[in-house]
This record gives sequence, C-alpha cells and structure tokens, in this order.
Amino acid sequence: DRQIFLTRHGQSTDNVTGRIGGDADLSPSGRKYAEALSKFIKEQRVQFALDLVHEQHEREEIWKSKGLEPLEKTDGSRTPEELMKAKAESICNSQFIVWTSMLKRAMSTAAYFDPDEYDIKHIRFLNEINASICEGMTYEEISNVYPDEYNLRKQNKLFYRYPGIGGESYMDVIHRTQSMIIELERMSQSCLIITHRVVMRILLGYLTDMSQKEMPHMDVPMHTVFEVRPKPYGNEILKWRYIE
Ligand code: G3H
Repeated sequence: DRQIFLTRHGQSTDNVTGRIGGDADLSPSGRKYAEALSKFIKEQRVQFALDLVHEQHEREEIWKSKGLEPLEKTDGSRTPEELMKAKAESICNSQFIVWTSMLKRAMSTAAYFDPDEYDIKHIRFLNEINASICEGMTYEEISNVYPDEYNLRKQNKLFYRYPGIGGESYMDVIHRTQSMIIELERMSQSCLIITHRVVMRILLGYLTDMSQKEMPHMDVPMHTVFEVRPKPYGNEILKWRYIE
C-alpha cells in the first residue's frame, strides 16, 4: 500500500520564453505551483492514511458480523476513533520519498517540502534530455539555425540524438532511467518524482504500456500531478491539474 506521484517541475523562466534545456530557476508562477504541490501531497498522504484505516475498520466490522474477532486485540483505553487517528498518523509519519532531477527548476519545486518529514534526493538520471548544441534555444531558432537537424528530429523523435557533446536521444534517456524504474518498482515507500517532460513521457509510457512510437508525443502538461494507482489490469493514472 503506497502512493506514487509524478510531476514536471514548476514553470521556469525559460518555459516562459520557450527555451529548451538550460538550468533556469522557477518563474513566480512555478513557485506558486511548488508551494501548492507540497500542500497537495500532504493532504493526499492524510487522505490515503484515513482511507486505509477506514477500509481496515470496515473489514473488521464484516468479521465481527460473521462472529470472528480480529486477531490483534485493540487497546481498550482508547475509543475506536482515537485508534483510527493514531493509525492514520503513523502511516502519515512513515517515510515518504521525494526524488528530483539535479536541475534548479526541479530542485526548487521541492523547496517547500520539509526535509525532516520527507526523504529528499536529487538524482542526475532524472535530468531533462541533453539537447547539446540546441540547449537554450527556442524550437523556432533551432528550425532556422539547424533546419536539417530540426527535420531529422521531427521524422524520428525516438532515435534522434542531438549532435554535440553530451547530446541525447529519447532512447538514451530510456537507458539512463532504467535503474530508476527498477528502483521505483522495488521500493515499498510512497514517493513523488519531480522531473522533466521527456523523463515524464518515458516513465508514464512505461507505466501505461504505451508504444515507444507514441510515447515521445505524449501530452504531459505543466502544473499537473500524475498519480499512479496499480490495478489488477495495469496501472490507472489519475491527473490533478493546478489552477492558479
Ligand atoms: O527539451 C525539453 C523538452 O521538454 C523536450 O520536449 O521532446 O517534445 O522536444 P520534446
């Protein structure tokens, strides 16, 4: 029983001007999202804990109606409501992981999370695709300065690798995020991942079994939290949009 949330970083000053890559910090609107995000996650944790306790309570009622007593005897000195509250509090206090990339806009999106309450880690593997010679440019500038590159990428976004030192393709990012996906599936704690559009497409594409052909074109809006809910038939994805 755990929660998994994924989001892009809050709006950066480069997002405002349409520049890709770089290491810009958040815009005023991005900061508002960051603040709202920490409140939202806190509320979701409390609600999740209450739901779990409520489900447990309902199960116990069913056992009792069938003449079965729960194996674990409850503490008679506290009312059922107090016990429920104590259980919910202990779930809320259990470790919750926040992973961000190592870029400023993602780390700043986690700035409102209390480090005493959350296990916050910054991971390079969650960084945005490296656009190398195109870093810091708008798509319009790329199409003017490097028209051939622009068209090649349009034809095959999955395999196209930006030329220049460190330049990556979606395939390269898929490879570097493999270990994160394995870790995400292995761990039992709840978590929030704050990353970037390309990494979000890869993670959501994997979690929803989307084809690699479609994945690079997935719509992943800003200021939206995606919640992954495992179901018997696959993962269900819930979207929560922040309206300023
Ligand atoms: O460089 C950052 C962009 O978010 C990548 O998006 O793959 O659709 O060009 P794109």
